[in-house]
Amino acid sequence: MQRPFAMITGMGHAHGSRLVPNEMLEELMDTTDEWIVTRTGIKQRWWSEEGEYASVLAERAARNAIEEAGVTPEQIDGIIIGTVTGDMKFPSTANFLQARLGADNAFSFDLSAACSGWVYGLSLAESLIATGKGKRILVVGVEILTSMTDMSDRSTAVLFGDAAGAALLEVSDGQAGLLSTYMGSNGKLAELLWAPSGGSRFGITPVVRAAGKEHLLMKGRHVYTHAVRAMADATQQALDLAGLQPEEIDFLVPHQANIRIIQATVERFGFPQDRVIINIDRFGNTSTASIPIALDEARRQGRIKPGHKVVMTVFGGGFTWASGVIQF
Ligand code: UT7
Repeated sequence: MQRPFAMITGMGHAHGSRLVPNEMLEELMDTTDEWIVTRTGIKQRWWSEEGEYASVLAERAARNAIEEAGVTPEQIDGIIIGTVTGDMKFPSTANFLQARLGADNAFSFDLSAACSGWVYGLSLAESLIATGKGKRILVVGVEILTSMTDMSDRSTAVLFGDAAGAALLEVSDGQAGLLSTYMGSNGKLAELLWAPSGGSRFGITPVVRAAGKEHLLMKGRHVYTHAVRAMADATQQALDLAGLQPEEIDFLVPHQANIRIIQATVERFGFPQDRVIINIDRFGNTSTASIPIALDEARRQGRIKPGHKVVMTVFGGGFTWASGVIQF
């Protein structure tokens, strides 16, 4: 069997209910709409309300994907969730989603790859389908980053939104599907973007709190530099593995972390602006959910159409990065 092994047959997305425009953040912290828009491209983001935890948003996104694909929850063979802000330490958020959906025949587990989690999950699901471990695998990226953000740290508090994106992956019809996937990581740079507490190394103790290690911590400028390089390199890898040139690609779907990082990737490959999917202004950085949300919106708006080839590229904490080409 030759690629494509697996194709997306349904997608969905969901976000927290509380709309938070930049002007609202001006009231909460020492920041300005002008700084946020100029430095990041973000105008608003959606935060979770009470009760909107990871499996809740994951279920909303997943139900849309399943409905579009026209399958029942019992027909799903596996559920993979990329998340670092799951409902609890264990069991996995994927297990809770399995129960919520009634996907009684599915195996389920989470994977931890920060912003790259959904693309990692897609790559893994493709391999599972190619090796006959399942015919229908649901891949969800969900993050409730407000649950680990230090709201007194303006350098991170303005960036993130809470959201989920989902895709159902099924056996390819031989035309549409994943033409390439690529994954990379560098654990030596973990300390530039991490949430160190709450595990077996640093429990949440008064000492940890006093050291300021309770929340997500990011050295933004350093992360920025690595992100620009890794997003571009990963794009090239995805194109090479698919045997495609940039001009053969209909849309670039980059991770929505910072409009300036997106622009750097766009410039390197010469993609015209109208072939780049950007929604960071409305969602902020939704981490692992950012690419599936952008894909789902663009499909539902009729921008990405059947037959189109899309390259996606992402970079995240860990460090992790990933990319791929999808033919819709
Ligand atoms: O999602 C995956 C991984 N994450 C990323 O890819 C994020 C990568 N990094 C970035 O996007 C950018 O580094 C940020 C948007 C986080 C920050 O932008 P920057 O241009 O790198 O700013 P900076 O951190 O160098 O800070 C510049 C100034 C500082 O003031 P001084 O020291 O120059 O006086 C900050 O204190 O901006 C200040 N600043 C703010 N001012 C107003 C930082 N945050 C804010 C804020 N409002 N929210």
